[in-house]
Amino acid sequence: MKPISPCIKFQAISSPVISAYFTYIYTFLRCMIGCMETIIELHDVWKVYGRGKTAVSALQGVSATIEEGEFISITGPSGSGKSTMMSIVGALDLPTRGKVFLRGKDISKMDESDLAALRGKRIGFVFQQFNLIPTLTALENVMLPMEFQDDNGAKKKAKEALEKVGLKDRMGHKPAELSGGQHQRVAIARAIAHNPDMILADEPTGNLDTKTGNDVMGIFGTLHNEGKTIVLVTHDMGLASRANRSIRLVDGKIDGGNL
Ligand SMILES: Nc1ncnc2c1ncn2[C@@H]1O[C@H](COP(=O)(O)OP(=O)(O)O)[C@@H](O)[C@H]1O
Ligand SMILES: [Mg+2]
Repeated sequence: MKPISPCIKFQAISSPVISAYFTYIYTFLRCMIGCMETIIELHDVWKVYGRGKTAVSALQGVSATIEEGEFISITGPSGSGKSTMMSIVGALDLPTRGKVFLRGKDISKMDESDLAALRGKRIGFVFQQFNLIPTLTALENVMLPMEFQDDNGAKKKAKEALEKVGLKDRMGHKPAELSGGQHQRVAIARAIAHNPDMILADEPTGNLDTKTGNDVMGIFGTLHNEGKTIVLVTHDMGLASRANRSIRLVDGKIDGGNL
């Protein structure tokens, strides 16, 4: 029988040791950098609206993870389940079947008040419709959700957020006195003022012209560079390409994308 070469013998002995060593180093670096923790995990998530013949399966067995610090896009045609997936990622809605873990915690085990607190503290939402209250100023609109959370520093944080989105000189204006792009900037300020872990934006440029939409996308890019986790829902592939990773939905199922 041919003897085993010393080189192969060395590899056989050392490769598990080397692999364990690299795993240790990788885990150590991940912990040190702190930017690779999984924020959200979806396990075989189904969402069915209605019952019987009129039931619509908006999500059909979606599994995905979102890591801290990612800029991820959810794309797909109209009706493919993007907004439904965003509602579930943002704990606005629970799945019909399957599991959702937020930082390892099963959200189906949380009651509505825990979920509301979690959304209020850890997630910032931006929608296509800006959803500003017309009778309140920009500053008051940004402060409002923090006041619901009894946040003492609401005014200071709201001012800082409005400054960040370039509206320092518009804080006292009411929505009727602001342009579409400025409305969305106020909405973004409202989403980031409480320093959430994750910003979820559903077609945030859908009601804006191309230039204003690009400016708004620039704000998301800056927020991502500052370490924020961004989930952008869009049917626009040009906007989606600005994200680092893309999940594509077709008929409620993940179809390719860069998982
Ligand atoms: N509240 C609801 N009740 C019934 N059907 C719904 C509801 N919300 C969404 N749907 C249906 O679920 C499917 C996915 O919708 P949605 O997630 O809004 O898709 P997208 O955001 O990709 O356009 C669509 O067929 C839509 O009509
Ligand atoms: Mg939608």
